[in-house]
Amino acid sequence: MRLQEKVAVITGACGGIGHAIVSKLVAEGARVLAADLSQEGLSRLQEEFGDSVATCIVNVTDYDQVAGMIQQACDHFGRLDIVINNAGIGSAKMLIDHDPVADFDGVTAVNQKGVYYGILAAAKKFKQLGTPGVILNTSSVYGKMASEMTFTYNVSKAAVDMMTKNAALELAPLNVRVCAIAPGRVDTPLLRQYEALGLWEHIRREQMRETFTQPEEIANVAAFLVSDEANCINGCTVDAGDGFTNFKYPLLQR
Ligand SMILES: NC(=O)c1ccc[n+]([C@@H]2O[C@H](COP(=O)([O-])OP(=O)(O)OC[C@H]3O[C@@H](n4cnc5c(N)ncnc54)[C@H](O)[C@@H]3O)[C@@H](O)[C@H]2O)c1
Repeated sequence: MRLQEKVAVITGACGGIGHAIVSKLVAEGARVLAADLSQEGLSRLQEEFGDSVATCIVNVTDYDQVAGMIQQACDHFGRLDIVINNAGIGSAKMLIDHDPVADFDGVTAVNQKGVYYGILAAAKKFKQLGTPGVILNTSSVYGKMASEMTFTYNVSKAAVDMMTKNAALELAPLNVRVCAIAPGRVDTPLLRQYEALGLWEHIRREQMRETFTQPEEIANVAAFLVSDEANCINGCTVDAGDGFTNFKYPLLQR
């Protein structure tokens, strides 16, 4: 078990990827503060994982709530080792149809500001504790690629990649490591918005192996990245997109 004794905090814990990461961290021996907007989802997590998990309702767009979440992990479990800024939302709309406020601010507040707040609150706590730590941010392959209908989402994930680099540099003197993980297309409620748009089969065929990544596969990579085995990985975004950024959708029928 790679995370024995460790205490982790994760936001977006009730979603597809978040739930899989909670499950994997607990299996690796960690105790986890699971944080999300959803009280119902958190109650289910508590029931599923028992004392290995504590829960916290948080809206990551509010700094005081994020700082309170970090404090709760320390108060409840007595230490802090890992903070995973995973909460994220998407939207699917062509740029030309954007409302300049609603279609930029909503996604940016969660995906960009929320990660910034998570990094900042974690950094202040690690400094106060004087112990080493790891921060893992959930980015996306779309932090590096353009795609239709996801303008603000892609911008927010590019910001996550840069925040990851910059924070790693500034937090290195505290012995805090900062990484990001970039999933491709993972079968979660977030991705299922493409189903409502009638694009589910199309995006499945766009995968190199014509299959979606499962949340558990992302959790495996996340658990490695927050473990000491990944000690030499710092300041970068690890591509977990199953080759998505490395090829163009084939012209020929397969
Ligand atoms: N699913 C994919 O294909 C995919 C691909 C690349 C990156 N990602 C990223 O992975 C992360 C998790 O996504 P997912 O696919 O599990 O989505 P999901 O919709 O299943 O889960 C997201 C979770 O975040 C929570 N959340 C939303 N806004 C919040 C807020 N303001 N404060 C606290 N919690 C909030 C939701 O309640 C939900 O439980 C996101 O950052 C997403 O951008 C997902």
